[in-house]
Amino acid sequence: MVSRVIPVDTFDLVIFGGTGDLARRKILPGLYVRFLAGQIPEDARIVGAARSEFDDDGYRSFVSESIAEFVAKSKQDKTAISEFLKCIHYVPIDALGKGGWPDLAKLMRLDTIRAFYLSVGPRLFGPLAERLHAHGIANDKSRIVVEKPFGRDLKSACALNAVLAESFEEHQIYRIDHYLGKETVQNLMAVRFGNILFEPLWNSQYVDHIQITVAETVGVGGRGGYYDKSGAMRDMVQNHMMQLLCLIAMEPPSTFEPDAVRDEKLKVIRALDPVESHEIVRGQYLEGENGASYQIEAENPDSHAESFIALRTHISNWRWNGTPIYLRTGKRLRARVSEIAVVFKDPPHSIFGPQEGRRGNVLVIRLQPDEGMNLRVTIKEPGPGGMRLIEVPLDMSFAEALGNDGDDIPDAYERLIMDVIRGNQTLFMRGDEVEAAWAWTDPIIAAWEDRHDKPKPYDPGSSGPEDSLMLLHRDGRRWREIR
Ligand SMILES: NC(=O)c1ccc[n+]([C@@H]2O[C@H](COP(=O)([O-])OP(=O)(O)OC[C@H]3O[C@@H](n4cnc5c(N)ncnc54)[C@H](OP(=O)(O)O)[C@@H]3O)[C@@H](O)[C@H]2O)c1
Repeated sequence: MVSRVIPVDTFDLVIFGGTGDLARRKILPGLYVRFLAGQIPEDARIVGAARSEFDDDGYRSFVSESIAEFVAKSKQDKTAISEFLKCIHYVPIDALGKGGWPDLAKLMRLDTIRAFYLSVGPRLFGPLAERLHAHGIANDKSRIVVEKPFGRDLKSACALNAVLAESFEEHQIYRIDHYLGKETVQNLMAVRFGNILFEPLWNSQYVDHIQITVAETVGVGGRGGYYDKSGAMRDMVQNHMMQLLCLIAMEPPSTFEPDAVRDEKLKVIRALDPVESHEIVRGQYLEGENGASYQIEAENPDSHAESFIALRTHISNWRWNGTPIYLRTGKRLRARVSEIAVVFKDPPHSIFGPQEGRRGNVLVIRLQPDEGMNLRVTIKEPGPGGMRLIEVPLDMSFAEALGNDGDDIPDAYERLIMDVIRGNQTLFMRGDEVEAAWAWTDPIIAAWEDRHDKPKPYDPGSSGPEDSLMLLHRDGRRWREIR
């Protein structure tokens, strides 16, 4: 199955932080791949902006190297690359300085979509928004894309929303969470709301519990300094995991319009119960064969930041009353896996005897690796020997369904940037959503700080601290294996 490409209108896109890691690894390669697919018009302008002194040609070499390094070899087409590079420009600008703005203004065309991607540290979000406005570069047709982290608590997120609101309307602001750009995440909505099959069962009457796991094998590495000030709660739970939780638990929106979807997500966040201290386990990885301990990598021997977190929460509404939702994320764990598992209840009565046919179905939505969905169903074990039942997966790997090795599945950044150009905010967080997520997160973090909570140590390559297993054992449940 070849995916259909719908070209976007021409645009001027400025990437602030155009020389940074994210631009090099994701944004620029992603734009090239969309260009190759025929989605980006040849007269589009892509302007890198940062303090480094490049001219257009120097920056084109930078872009060309990033394509060589981060785009699949099968997609590196010489002619397409040289055509793409004609779209590339560069303007040296210090976000905190005065120079460069008139040059940038000259590159912007009248009556063309303008997008400004702030791929810089969060302290520059406000100054850049202000300067774009003050120099008349931002207009009614402009969109501004803001990277994470969006604040580090409710107060700072409100302050950032207020600064952005001085220069941009909410419908122009795109707060990016790349998890929402993943094929599977959108498929989650297609599966839930495009089929009659699941929705009648999607509630506390039939769902025993939900598990969301985002496990990484890597440690904090070179990001130790940043990570130590945030920890897993701020880095993963408040944003990515909260968004996944919203999509899995929200009510069907009346339309697929951005605000209709985001209204429903917001209701989920606002209905989340506060989390008690006995419902959370924090962890920090120890030294192992493949690397140093968290504290050494973070260069903070007294660090109390968590590299692992597991928690139980509930959504106080009619649909989910009594259904626990377990979230778990961590670094240096046994395997790299991101998945949502909806664990259904056992059938109420087994006609096959007490031991048979009492296993609930599990729907697993995999975000990585191998994006896809898998539904475990009970069938009869083949062959003679009576009615013995086994569980087998009904498996749908998107890569297989799309007919090749997955190269046709656009990377999350590719999809999200194209949505910005189209002006579609459905997969971006609204200001009130982000604030509500911080309002839920803040008391949890404050409680740790009040009691100087220390994370539990865990071995690298494990599933996290023992106590996290107990969190489910106490409820008579088990985590799915991280593998
Ligand atoms: N890297 C990732 O995988 C990733 C993932 C998710 C989110 N993010 C977020 O994306 C943003 C960028 O991350 P990154 O990893 O690309 O950071 P980075 O590698 O440190 O790059 C920062 C960029 O900002 C530019 N910059 C710094 N100070 C500036 C100033 N005063 N004026 C203009 N430009 C300035 C730098 O270029 P010059 O030094 O040339 O000025 C560079 O291009 C951050 O908010 C980060 O949290 C990154």
